[in-house]
Amino acid sequence: MELAGKVALVTGGAKRVGRAIVLELARGGCDVVIHYRRSAAEAQDVVAEVEALGRRGATVAGELSDPASWPAIVSEGVRSFGRLDILVNNASIFLTDKPDTLAEFDVATWDNILRTNLTAPVGLCRHAFPHLSAHGVGKIVNLCDISAERPWASHLAYCASKAALVAVTKALAKALAPTVLVNGVSPGIAEFPDSYSQELREKLIAKVPLRRAGTPKDVARVVRFLVESGDYVTGQVVCVDGGRSLA
Ligand SMILES: NC(=O)c1ccc[n+]([C@@H]2O[C@H](COP(=O)([O-])OP(=O)(O)OC[C@H]3O[C@@H](n4cnc5c(N)ncnc54)[C@H](OP(=O)(O)O)[C@@H]3O)[C@@H](O)[C@H]2O)c1
Repeated sequence: MELAGKVALVTGGAKRVGRAIVLELARGGCDVVIHYRRSAAEAQDVVAEVEALGRRGATVAGELSDPASWPAIVSEGVRSFGRLDILVNNASIFLTDKPDTLAEFDVATWDNILRTNLTAPVGLCRHAFPHLSAHGVGKIVNLCDISAERPWASHLAYCASKAALVAVTKALAKALAPTVLVNGVSPGIAEFPDSYSQELREKLIAKVPLRRAGTPKDVARVVRFLVESGDYVTGQVVCVDGGRSLA
């Protein structure tokens, strides 16, 4: 897919991995709609960065745990630049301030994580599909996680949401073919949560065959590859993990 003249919507695009994906797609020639929830100022900063790259940027706000936001985010996104070719489901909840374990299981937290990480991407795909297929072929990329295949006991709902998102990616690749291609990217370490200690970071990096943490840009470049060059690739989930899932 030639990126020049195309429009992408990236959820959670104001910071961290989402921001890197926005900038990488803009570098490729896309205009980008940056979805955010709380990070309004950071989203505006990313618009300025997109514009500095010579592309157009716009923002759209929305709380993804609320199903009413899904059609609104898509329609506002489409209104920004008159079309939508690419949807990147990047936003997600990963709890670091409270346990996500069986011992601490509570239905409200579980539902919130599953709603945001799994159901919202499906809802956005549903509402985006007519737009993505309106001008030829569209692309969807879902941000998954290598923990979908090798789950941690300490992030129960998160791992469940990402494992199901892998299944959804494959199912939607079949359902939306041939007009919309659906793939996933599973990062290992792309950017540590701010709260992780140096000791924990070093312990996690020691398990990575490439002996370094990944970066948001490592992930963003593979998202761009799938969108720009993966015209005969659908239903695949690419690990961007320095080999961690093999170790
Ligand atoms: N970071 C990593 O090392 C890593 C590793 C494996 C997989 N991943 C996956 O890669 C993606 C990006 O990772 P990340 O660490 O950059 O993500 P993140 O910082 O944890 O979250 C990205 C954004 O999601 C938005 N968000 C969270 N809950 C939301 C809700 N209920 N409604 C709307 N927006 C919501 C937030 O937007 P606001 O700030 O605007 O509120 C947040 O900035 C995620 O899908 C993650 O699971 C990341």
